[in-house]
Amino acid sequence: MNISIKHINESRLSSVDLDNIPFGRVFTDHMFVMDYYDGKWQDARILPVHDLSIHPANLTLHYGQSIFEGMKAFKNSDHVPILFRPEMHARRMNASAERMVMPTIDQDVFIEAIRQLVYLEKDWIPDMDGSALYIRPFMFATDEFLGVAPSETYKFIVMTLPVAPYYDRPVKLLASDKYIRAAIGGVGEAKTAGNYAASLYASKEAKSKGYDQVLWLDGKEFTYVQEVGTMNMFFVIDDTVITPATDGAILKGITRDTFLHLLKDWGIPVEERKISIQEVIDAAEKGTLQGAFGSGTAAVAADVCEIRYKDQLVQVNVEENSIASRLKREINGIRKGEIEDKFGWTDPVYEVANV
Ligand code: COI
Repeated sequence: MNISIKHINESRLSSVDLDNIPFGRVFTDHMFVMDYYDGKWQDARILPVHDLSIHPANLTLHYGQSIFEGMKAFKNSDHVPILFRPEMHARRMNASAERMVMPTIDQDVFIEAIRQLVYLEKDWIPDMDGSALYIRPFMFATDEFLGVAPSETYKFIVMTLPVAPYYDRPVKLLASDKYIRAAIGGVGEAKTAGNYAASLYASKEAKSKGYDQVLWLDGKEFTYVQEVGTMNMFFVIDDTVITPATDGAILKGITRDTFLHLLKDWGIPVEERKISIQEVIDAAEKGTLQGAFGSGTAAVAADVCEIRYKDQLVQVNVEENSIASRLKREINGIRKGEIEDKFGWTDPVYEVANV
């Protein structure tokens, strides 16, 4: 694929404190852009980050045809940037695209775009433990049309941004018995913008009560745990790690999948199945709930210290050497080339011809 590159005149990097970055607000110098029209993706290019000009009738603004991915790049001790499971992100992006009636992107094109951009922006990869270069590929409709129909044109953009961990302390969750994130048959499995917009009202309520996030329950019975929105959920009960089975309404997390592989490799019993909020509360009462944590690209592995469901409060023990902290050390070690990558997950970006 031929990607043209227009370099920035002067990098902003020297004005950024990479050891002190809020999540999602500081962007690197360049972004990748590609347009879909006449039935194919065209004009692949890397440009300085700039504002976009959008017609007021842009379909995305009205009907929300918009999807995204979240990935991270690290660097090893030789300063080589390393991508993590990029083909899985490409596949999930395409699954989201199909669900939202948007065009898919050839996996090699998706990965090559990211490799070139990350190589160009490699000096932005933070050194600090837990920090990374976050990669945000996203696609949205660009037709100027107010009929409810799939757009015929789209833009695919990849932005990169240095980030610290999303949560810097154990999180408190409020299980909602009033609002839902997704139901079977809906778009919960797609990484589409509307899922996040739909979560904001309940999140605001949870935050006003002192909670960090909402723990979503299933959309039919308000009984079974789904996910947190920014993370998939894991519970450690009686030495077994349990995570809700994906059922079409839960995002198929790539960090979730990574942790399942690692746990199985460590010989820790793992169950992917339905788990009710009552089972979690009962385990806490019996003293068999040994931990709870979330997984996600941005969050990595975040211990959960408290869950409220109606008038019941579950305090979760957060141990120094919790399974979440072991998983976090392992995944970060693999991603930085410090721990052997026996699953073949890492993709180092050595020389890139074009950049
Ligand atoms: C990610 O973990 O990459 C996500 O997409 C969650 C994000 C909404 C912060």
